[in-house]
Amino acid sequence: MPIKKHEIFSNFHEVQHPLLQHKLTLLRKKDTKKKEFKELVDEISTLLVYEATKSLPLVDELIETPLESCEMPVLAGKKPVILAILRAGIGMVDGFLSLMPLARVAHIGLYRDEVTLEPHLYYFKIPSHSKDRQFYICDPMLATGGSAVRSIDKLKSAGVKKISFVCILAAPEGVERVFQEHPDVPVFAVKLDRKLNKKGYILPGLGDAGDRMFGTK
Ligand code: PRP
Ligand code: URA
Repeated sequence: MPIKKHEIFSNFHEVQHPLLQHKLTLLRKKDTKKKEFKELVDEISTLLVYEATKSLPLVDELIETPLESCEMPVLAGKKPVILAILRAGIGMVDGFLSLMPLARVAHIGLYRDEVTLEPHLYYFKIPSHSKDRQFYICDPMLATGGSAVRSIDKLKSAGVKKISFVCILAAPEGVERVFQEHPDVPVFAVKLDRKLNKKGYILPGLGDAGDRMFGTK
């Protein structure tokens, strides 16, 4: 799939594919109901993980085909980990697992204070022996970047070195904040939207991803 690298954000990858763009437009529509919203998030996440995992390392393994022995590539190292940011990140896990069924699933609980917009941590659980695993943090929305930065901080303090951040929509303000603090972490998104509004919502955006996914509004 073609990927557009924005000059100002060299580690930002906008995954451009007609299917992704089309599905994102459906997701944005205010009339899209809960069931369809979740199905679209599943489909978009599956397409995104295909791109985000492009640099997973391979190692040759000796196998037997019905005709002969040969060395063929398989994924190297420990199973990757999908770290879902609660709540809305949970919605992306099934899409990731459809292509990486053996990946581990970890969770970090964060909510944004409605006034300060700063994230508050209430839960963190990752697999043991995580230091050498590749982590994919998933959350549909990268807005101010507070939740992304906090999750990356937390993983790095646990010794994790290989981290990618995968979202559906990103705001320029949030991407800038992530790259100021963690320039080594690639960010994958379907679209870099225009800007944040005064309440920290992405414009044009899709509204509150968690509320739309779980029907809590
Ligand atoms: C939303 C979203 C991200 C966060 C992004 O979650 O799912 O986690 O906001 O905003 P930020 O980049 O400014 O940190 P929210 O805090 O509303 O919690 P929820 O998923 O439980 O609704
Ligand atoms: N979180 C959301 O769910 N939507 C936004 O636009 C910003 C943060």
